[in-house]
Amino acid sequence: MSTTADAARTGAPLPLLVLGQGRDLATERGVECPGDLPAPSEPGLVERAKAARAALGEKVFVLGHHYQRDEVIAFADVTGDSFKLAKEAAARPDAPWIVFCGVHFMAESADILTSDEQTVILPDLAAGCSMADMAQIHQVEDAWDDLVEAGVADDTIPVTYMNSAAAIKAFTGRHGGTICTSSNAKSALSWAFSQAGDGRVEGGTGKVLFLPDQHLGRNTWARDLGGSLEDCVVFDPHRPMGGLTRQQLQDARMILWRGHCSVHGRFTLEAVEQARREIPGVKVIVHPECRHEVVEAADEVGSTEKIIKTVAAAPDGTKWVVGTELNLVKRLAAEFPRQQIAFLEKNVCYCSTMNRIDLPHLVWALESLVDGRVVNPIKVDEDVAHYARVALDQMLALPGETHRD
Ligand code: 13P
Ligand code: SF4
Repeated sequence: MSTTADAARTGAPLPLLVLGQGRDLATERGVECPGDLPAPSEPGLVERAKAARAALGEKVFVLGHHYQRDEVIAFADVTGDSFKLAKEAAARPDAPWIVFCGVHFMAESADILTSDEQTVILPDLAAGCSMADMAQIHQVEDAWDDLVEAGVADDTIPVTYMNSAAAIKAFTGRHGGTICTSSNAKSALSWAFSQAGDGRVEGGTGKVLFLPDQHLGRNTWARDLGGSLEDCVVFDPHRPMGGLTRQQLQDARMILWRGHCSVHGRFTLEAVEQARREIPGVKVIVHPECRHEVVEAADEVGSTEKIIKTVAAAPDGTKWVVGTELNLVKRLAAEFPRQQIAFLEKNVCYCSTMNRIDLPHLVWALESLVDGRVVNPIKVDEDVAHYARVALDQMLALPGETHRD
């Protein structure tokens, strides 16, 4: 089999299969140690994690997103996509401590959905999300002023992807919108258009301001709702009026925030075509954060949970090429050895912020709890939490979703 180095020398297309060639980002990045964070090389970390878990018993509940490292997933009580984890966090009122192995916006949502007596802990506060950072609350407030100015705000419902700061979720709650995840974006958009098109504005068309992932918004509109790309505009928060004219804003149905995921943005149509050439009969499955042309060229599209369920349900011998984060794809390849699973990217493609949560941080968070210290608690401001909760509850009440008790 040709290697990446061979390909670089000869100029031939890079091979698709990179499974098992991941870099150890924990050692590479030279983590700044908060207090007594153990070194990644320290022996006995697994035993220490087991001992801390046993000592804490039912008092701690560990949630793990599908993009987490294997060493962390091994200690998760529940794994899931962001929607499942939000519901799971809300369904554990008896655990005083929820250790969230995922990224900051997920831990914030868990804090909002849990009681005041519970504390959500993020083992490394540097585990953010570059997409969530692409929508700052002052930018979103300014954008809304632009919509007011263009005369379309009364005709617009905000729909905000879970991958956003609590302040943006609160903005959504204040303006009558809903949160969505990659697993319920279709029902969230359908609901929003039923609200926006309810005749509140005479002659209005009903619009959605979709934050902050333009790709999920565009893909859901075009692929799931059969909408036209002509009806989408991209609002660039760095340009006056989003870089759009008043007329463009008035004509649009989908106002897409200019945000994207830097991991999923790397999957290309060329890679899909290459996979189809090189692996006859291959099925392409991708996350809806991928660019529209990639999603259009795929056989299946879905959240991390859906990707896992689809692969799990496929017969032995199925060939897949998967376009989502590498920790998950490697785990799929290990769990389903009777299927052929390749990765839709020529180069290593981890989510570097998800990867910040490693075994040393998990051990540190758990052992600190055993010692009676809560490290890295995530506490959302009360007013922000109230309105963010309104928008999250709206999501949980969407048709087909199960509301918590
Ligand atoms: P899921 O909701 O599919 O788990 O996706 C979360 C995410 O951050 C994908 O990049
Ligand atoms: Fe954010 Fe992308 Fe990482 Fe998901 S994969 S947490 S969207 S940066």
